[in-house]
Amino acid sequence: MSVSQPASYSRAQIILHWVIALIVFFQLIFGESIAEYGHVLREGTTPDSGLVIMANAHIWSGVAILVLMLARIALRLSHGAPAPISGPKLQVMVAKAIHGLFYLLLIAAPLTGLAAWYLKIRPAGEVHEWMKPVFIVLIALHIVGALWHKFVLKDATMQRMVSSSA
Ligand code: HEM
Ligand code: HEM
Repeated sequence: MSVSQPASYSRAQIILHWVIALIVFFQLIFGESIAEYGHVLREGTTPDSGLVIMANAHIWSGVAILVLMLARIALRLSHGAPAPISGPKLQVMVAKAIHGLFYLLLIAAPLTGLAAWYLKIRPAGEVHEWMKPVFIVLIALHIVGALWHKFVLKDATMQRMVSSSA
């Protein structure tokens, strides 16, 4: 995917990584509110205002993720990404696969959410719900990987997602 091999992530790439990660945590923790809002609307009862606010926050946060991801992909295509810090082939491959899946999910989650909510495409909603456990497993592996790099391998992997020299 990268056109060049810079020495580090740019400041913009680092900020995008952490802002998107934060919004994803919000979506995973509070995502059930929009599901509940959907049920309430289908039953024809009146939702309380807190639920309406949380459901709308889910939609706008999801749209924000989509827009930020498009910027992130554009940056990755123009700036590139640093080469993985050398390690066993399998470790590098697993990290690459997890990052690739994140990119895919972070585009697919908002699109399936929008299709389920506005176009009433039920299978899109089912796929969307399935993304929750997939995200949780990938994030857990990703965090364990980051901690492994920091505390066991003691290499610069974590540092380069914290500060930039580019
Ligand atoms: C990356 C962005 C997003 C993430 C991580 C995310 C995550 C989630 C989660 C965790 C749930 C709860 C699933 C459950 O109850 O088991 C959910 C439900 C839902 N989300 Fe999202 N969401 C995102 C974007 C969006 C967007 C942009 C929309 C647009 C309207 C949306 C619409 C929905 C709907 C309609 C449900 C209820 C699904 C159902 O009951 O069938 N989501 N989402
Ligand atoms: C506490 C949580 C997190 C930590 C400690 C963390 C740490 C890191 C680190 C250290 C890297 C750099 C890896 C390298 O340079 O080889 C990285 C890359 C990445 N992270 Fe995270 N991350 C976290 C949460 C997340 C979340 C929630 C997502 C997505 C939902 C995510 C998606 C990514 C992606 C896609 C990359 C690859 C970036 C690229 O090369 O373009 N991260 N993360």
